Amino acid sequence: MLRRAARRFIAGERLEEALDAIRRLNLEGLSTTLDLLGEDVTTAAQAEASGHAYLRIVDALRVPPVEPEWPQAPVPRPGGVAGGPPAAAGTDNNLSLKLTQLGLDVDAPVCGRVLRGILDRAAAGAAPMFVRIDMESSAHTDATLRLFEALWTEGRRNVGVVIQAYLYRSPRDVERLNALGARVRLVKGAYDEAPAVAFARKRDVDRTFARLTEVLLREGTYPAIATHDERLIDHARRTARSAGVTPDRFEFQMLYGIRRDLQAALRRDGYRVRVYVPFGDEWYPYFMRRLAERPANVEFVLRSLLRERAAG
Ligand code: FDA
Repeated sequence: MLRRAARRFIAGERLEEALDAIRRLNLEGLSTTLDLLGEDVTTAAQAEASGHAYLRIVDALRVPPVEPEWPQAPVPRPGGVAGGPPAAAGTDNNLSLKLTQLGLDVDAPVCGRVLRGILDRAAAGAAPMFVRIDMESSAHTDATLRLFEALWTEGRRNVGVVIQAYLYRSPRDVERLNALGARVRLVKGAYDEAPAVAFARKRDVDRTFARLTEVLLREGTYPAIATHDERLIDHARRTARSAGVTPDRFEFQMLYGIRRDLQAALRRDGYRVRVYVPFGDEWYPYFMRRLAERPANVEFVLRSLLRERAAG
């Protein structure tokens, strides 16, 4: 029953289901970032297995389907890096991953090696594929940014990172990443953090999100403004307009299954929109974070469970 409820937020448990979801989104003019659900592995062998799974995903994203269902026009490459097919004109598909899924907590060198393997495979081929490192709880922020900066120093450019507006440290991190020329995805932050490291009040998080949006749009490199908050999206649109930042120099990002109306409306208005598409059988922690973000979701799930129980 829970699995059925989670389906609202995940594209399925199998890669084929996720690829179908991607095709549908591409047809609507939406780009995607594909995430294989999973985090907090406890052995190096599990980390290696996640790495192999991601290599298969990179290959699958590059294979054009036998019977294309969408226009095969040349794909513009936002920010110079993008994923391969399947894509309708103006869309591209890339990857998101979590470092604890690649063994960050088990063996940092293994995590680095597995990630470099994925980045190498993603960079190979005619169109380098971009890989976004998701940001997890604040216990991992330093290690994540350290590894990202090491990759950047090695000259890797098909990789970007995420900054969470709720962390007090984030303005400094954004400044450093902008100076590097790195691609940042800005989010509010989804983990339960202590008041020593993060704002607790929504008002403070939103204010910081708005300020960091301005800094990223004015000084950053192809930033991703990742929120479903209409007020903050309007703020980003106004800031971009007044700073002369054209819609091809940034993108909006939203989660699969959330505010599809807003995704479509932004696309209609000529903005680039990328949907975060999670798939796989390890959906439980992701699903719990989505429930925690919105009490109405818990109500919705409880009501469907009760309805199913009454019917069964
Ligand atoms: P907010 O929570 O204020 O919601 C604004 C409105 O959006 C709500 O009123 C509602 O209409 C809608 N909405 C938001 N969440 C919803 C939900 N779960 N169900 C239904 N409606 C909902 N976090 C992180 O810590 N590390 C990361 O790497 C990422 N990566 C990431 C990628 C992308 C593409 C997105 C969009 C988000 C993330 N996040 C994340 C999650 C992020 O930190 C945050 O928890 C969610 O985006 C929810 O916050 P909003 O910005 O949408 O605002």
